[in-house]
Amino acid sequence: MATSIGSKKIRAAVFISGTGSNLHNLIKFSKKRVSPISINIIISNNTKSKGLKFADIYKIKKNIIDFKKKDLAEKKMLKILKENRIDLICLAGFMKILSKKFINNFHGKILNIHPSLLPKYKGLDTHKKVIKNNEKFTGCTVHLVTEKLDSGKIILQKKIRIKKFDTVETIAKRVLTQEHKLYPEAILKLFNF
Ligand code: GRF
Repeated sequence: MATSIGSKKIRAAVFISGTGSNLHNLIKFSKKRVSPISINIIISNNTKSKGLKFADIYKIKKNIIDFKKKDLAEKKMLKILKENRIDLICLAGFMKILSKKFINNFHGKILNIHPSLLPKYKGLDTHKKVIKNNEKFTGCTVHLVTEKLDSGKIILQKKIRIKKFDTVETIAKRVLTQEHKLYPEAILKLFNF
């Protein structure tokens, strides 16, 4: 994907539903000179999303979108994204599935971070499944979003070893640390740095 470093950064939106640690990490990355992206809008489907505080802290526009009517929600989001000249969407713990119609508007320009070594363990409860199956490794993946859940082209992955006494919580903690390294690296890779 071409970029315009040296002139303007690529305008990105981050979609969240919860804590927003990946969002916070991406905001910090976006402020670095090397970052090809700026974060211009934060969208959440959840009024209680803790991550929304980062919009206030970093003075980034935020929008809360009610997903009760998905079609309407997506129409609203597309309008906001267009108004804000957004060219890249980073999903970061966004718990809603986007429609094919929405995704087609941003073909190849929606990224997601997933807490497993895809194509293994798509969907929810990845760490639980990893433990149940006695896996030796797990990790995280940044991939392009397509209409098929957690199935688009893989940009980058990081692997961690499962230890004997690991629990869902200890794995989640170590994977999240890796996620915070991975997302910026994947963005740099996507834009050829
Ligand atoms: C991360 O584990 C991410 O991989 C998954 O949801 C979690 C979000 O965490 N999609 P946070 O809200 O970024 O802290």
